[in-house]
Amino acid sequence: MPPFSRAIRRPGLYYIAPTYLKCHVMQRSISAIMTSVTKRVPIPPKGVDYRGKIVLAPMVRSGELPSRLLALHYGADLVWGPETVDRSLIGTTRKVNEALNTIDFTRFPSNGAKTPQKDQKESLIYRLHPEREGSRLIFQIGTSDPERAVQAARIVAGDVAGIDVNAGCPKPFSTSGGMGAALLQTPDILASILEALVKEIVPEFQIGISVKIRLLETPELTEVLVRKLCATGITALTIHCRTTPMRPRERAIREQLKMIADICRETGVACLINGDVANRAQAEQLISEFGADGAMIATAAESNPSCFRTGADGGLAPWEEVVEQYIKTSMEVGNRWGNTKYLLAHLIPGKLQALKNITSTKSYHQVCQILGLEHLETQAKEVDERLGITPETEYQGRKGKKGKNNNSALAAGGNQGKARHGQKKSLSKRGIPEQAAAVANV
Ligand SMILES: Cc1cc2nc3c(=O)[nH]c(=O)nc-3n(C[C@H](O)[C@H](O)[C@H](O)COP(=O)(O)O)c2cc1C
Repeated sequence: MPPFSRAIRRPGLYYIAPTYLKCHVMQRSISAIMTSVTKRVPIPPKGVDYRGKIVLAPMVRSGELPSRLLALHYGADLVWGPETVDRSLIGTTRKVNEALNTIDFTRFPSNGAKTPQKDQKESLIYRLHPEREGSRLIFQIGTSDPERAVQAARIVAGDVAGIDVNAGCPKPFSTSGGMGAALLQTPDILASILEALVKEIVPEFQIGISVKIRLLETPELTEVLVRKLCATGITALTIHCRTTPMRPRERAIREQLKMIADICRETGVACLINGDVANRAQAEQLISEFGADGAMIATAAESNPSCFRTGADGGLAPWEEVVEQYIKTSMEVGNRWGNTKYLLAHLIPGKLQALKNITSTKSYHQVCQILGLEHLETQAKEVDERLGITPETEYQGRKGKKGKNNNSALAAGGNQGKARHGQKKSLSKRGIPEQAAAVANV
């Protein structure tokens, strides 16, 4: 029998009383609307809902503790830590640093030796500030294996508000181990990592699991991937609106965004937009235009974290103010001098003399002198002393790579025809699967 008790049986057919049918259809569409409105993967009690949030992106080197605290100071709703590879976290010791009020995950560098050498110094793998960021910090893991992912996540899960899996980093240090963007080519492995984290970490630590991906070569491929990932039990997905071969300076592609946001909404997963988001106002505009739930900012925040501030609260702050605030915060949490100097080079606008002046500095004290921050000099000297800073402190600069237009970008934006135009031979003719090519940067 059909599910309608008032159905009238006729040979081979069911007739349904029209008024009843109308009622039933109305009831179904109301419940469909309610389901689509209310469907949400539950947010565990110690986790966070990414909906309505404008957040700091994960950034290796640029997303260390002082950068995260500064982003929060200027209004970021959540902060992602830099990708940390599972193997580097496994084997660390969790230490409460009472002098700095931080939690430090440290280890002895193995250098192939089984036991640490005498007088060997411990390396700091990850530092977080439980009071100032803990409930708003998402830990991003680099991994290619479900068991290792769970093992590593367990080490930090009690101190953070969420675990995010990096499935978008195109750099060889990530992809060579099958991590980062390489996972976009092995969706079964990526899904099994997320499922393992959902199964093991969510009940034990009551925080959510999320993933950050890039666009695939075509909207169809992206759709299949997003559906698969949204079925794993994750609470959120961030889409970096570039394909793997695209360089950072190439404009983000928005064509697939609505489709991705729609799938996320349908499956109850929060969707964050990433790629060329300049500030809070633009983030809000993109969220409403594409029906997403939040947005993530990387490079704009790297050069001025006050991009998170609303216009009403003052909008973008002058670099002098941001730099002073950054130096203060770095000193408060004992940030490694080399890292502080690296970020200062991003915070001070390119052509200024101040930028040239700081290149020769080798300590917190020197930088305060050069920037005229006399009121911070005494504190700077103490911090230098505590960190054991000597004039020989090493500093490694950032090696930029110039971007080029590429076909992958065109294809992902729905312009496959244009993308193929001008290609000498198709990738498949050259014996390279198109998706593998994206990772190989061909
Ligand atoms: C210095 C730097 C380091 C980055 N490190 C990471 C990382 O650890 N994990 C990750 O998923 N993405 C990383 N990214 C990519 C950003 O999170 C972001 O996806 C990308 O920069 C696009 O956002 P944007 O257009 O706002 O810069 C990094 C980007 C930069 C500039």
